[in-house]
Amino acid sequence: MNLLLTEEQLALRDLAHDFAAHEIRPYAPDWDEKESFPRSELAQKAVEVGLWNIAVPEAHGGTDIDAVSTCLINEELAWGCAGIATSIGGNSLGSYPLLIAGTDEQKERFLRPQVEAGAMAAFALTEPNAGSDVASLATTAHREGDEYVLQGRKCFITNGDLADVYVVFAATDRSQGAKGLSTFVVERGTAGLSTGKKEKKMGIRASNTTEVILEEVRVPAANRLGAEGDGFKLAMKTLDISRPSVAAMAVGVARAAYETALHYAKERVQFGKPIASFQAIQTILADMAMAIETARLLTLKAAMLKDQGLPYTLESAMCKAYATDVAMKVTTDAVQVLGGYGYSREYPVEKWMRDAKILQIYEGTNQIQRLVIANQILR
Ligand code: CAA
Ligand code: FAD
Repeated sequence: MNLLLTEEQLALRDLAHDFAAHEIRPYAPDWDEKESFPRSELAQKAVEVGLWNIAVPEAHGGTDIDAVSTCLINEELAWGCAGIATSIGGNSLGSYPLLIAGTDEQKERFLRPQVEAGAMAAFALTEPNAGSDVASLATTAHREGDEYVLQGRKCFITNGDLADVYVVFAATDRSQGAKGLSTFVVERGTAGLSTGKKEKKMGIRASNTTEVILEEVRVPAANRLGAEGDGFKLAMKTLDISRPSVAAMAVGVARAAYETALHYAKERVQFGKPIASFQAIQTILADMAMAIETARLLTLKAAMLKDQGLPYTLESAMCKAYATDVAMKVTTDAVQVLGGYGYSREYPVEKWMRDAKILQIYEGTNQIQRLVIANQILR
């Protein structure tokens, strides 16, 4: 694998690994237990090393990091803790629509504070009755002079309680379905914007997930991203970019579980021998190693296509579905290799198994990824 990567990409991977090993992994069980994102403990440190929002380009205070490096970094952060990687990744997810459709003024205004002052972003698409079926969302935005008035309710929004800017998708013309959606940046503190229920989750418990409520929220027309009616495609283009990062996170979670299972299998003695000497355990470990390697290769292929300016919607969906299914299987098998100890919170593998599950659900369920794949291959 290293043969395919540049010195710069490897250096970024090592930087992220170092950060994950020292600033994330040791505290992950505690943050999981507390079910809250440790912003004050982490933001400044991540800002200092340039990992708080890796999507922000140099022109707006960040670094021009390619898609391959983005995946390598996300693998390492999730190896540290998928809840933390999800929260930090939420900043990037909330920034991609700005990068795709924002004006220079919008980018400067909303992106620079993230890399310079640890501001946060959220991507607010999902609603109680519109999850997979994005085109049916019910939040509305109607124009009044130089403003839009937003009304509706979003749910399951990562960084909901923490974000300084929310990228909100709303219908400017509900009769047009997918062609009637538009995108707005809503700043924290805007009258009528509030957060509701905080989700109590199975996994990624260090991440903050809440409802976002919009009651007669007025935003200047200058906060609209792209043209009216472009919102659906903007959401899809954003998810094309971000899904390989979810795949990379899945590789990181799977790798964490595999490394632990491998180590444990060599140490744990039953019937007078290390359990790694039993072929039943060896084949589990071999399957884990093989699946992780193939998941990473497919993920990096999607990223490389993006970096080369080639179409990558197909590979983006493929790597997201494949790698996250791998993470679910590998983490479940890791619990099995550790036996009763795997099921106990004394070891981290049960957390990784809980964390892996969300990767198959958010950023488009794996059933939806298969729909996207089928649409692409049947064209
Ligand atoms: N890029 C550009 N355009 C695209 C596109 C893409 N990737 N995908 C679709 N489009 C275009 C189509 O070409 C079509 O355009 P025309 O009408 O001009 O031909 C239009 O968009 C409508 O496309 P579809 O008919 O395919 O749309 P659909 O209603 O059937 O829905 C879907 C497609 C794939 C199911 C989509 O709704 C989807 O991706 N759903 C999943 C939602 C999702 O991923 N949510 C994630 C929320 S964020 C999150 O989860 C973050 C987190 O956890 C941290
Ligand atoms: P549904 O769409 O109701 O799906 C239910 C089941 O039906 C799934 O198994 C699905 O695969 C299946 N299904 C639905 N339609 C089809 C179909 N056509 N064919 C086959 N199967 C189908 N959203 C945001 O906008 N921003 C965020 O930051 C964000 N963060 C999240 C964080 C967490 C922890 C969670 C749990 C969710 C988050 N989400 C976020 C929402 C997430 O993207 C949605 O939960 C996801 O897209 C699925 O939508 P849904 O939950 O409404 O499920």
